Amino acid sequence: MERTLIIIKPDGVQRGLVGEILTRFERKGFRIAGMKFMQPSRELAEKHYAVHQGKPFYEGLVSYIISSPVVVLVLEGTNAIVAARGTVGATRPHEAAPGSIRGDFGLEVGRNLVHASDSVENGLAEIALWFKPEELVNWTRNNEPWIFEKP
Ligand code: RTP
Ligand code: MG
Repeated sequence: MERTLIIIKPDGVQRGLVGEILTRFERKGFRIAGMKFMQPSRELAEKHYAVHQGKPFYEGLVSYIISSPVVVLVLEGTNAIVAARGTVGATRPHEAAPGSIRGDFGLEVGRNLVHASDSVENGLAEIALWFKPEELVNWTRNNEPWIFEKP
């Protein structure tokens, strides 16, 4: 089953939106394979956002992501990468569709609440960066045939 890495960023945690954001992913049908509350180090944040190094917003982005604890999740599901980015919404919250997390709760790109991996390959690399293999759980839910046609 495809996996994606989700981060509820510091603004989501500080604003008390952890439950609301988790609910949206659960409601969609994703299966949680990993979840933890942690304070990311600068080193980890720099590795996570290495692709943006050198861009004008890079320093602000790293400072933002380490400014407070975050909730990190591994979610599983059919087409998990694309599906989770749909649930999250467009990068710039003022352009994100109503009904998406960013569309419903955000106004600025530098406070856009959630990260979601943008490709299967990057997702696997991000999962390896944020989680040890033993922190991930292989399990199934008893409602799975009602979510996945071929569980
Ligand atoms: P993310 O990686 O956090 O899921 O967001 P994304 O794929 O939708 O957007 P990406 O292009 O990967 O950008 C990563 C994060 O950098 C911040 N950003 N700021 N000021 C700016 O122009 C700007 N552009 C991007 C956002 O926090 C974005 O989520
Ligand atoms: Mg991205």
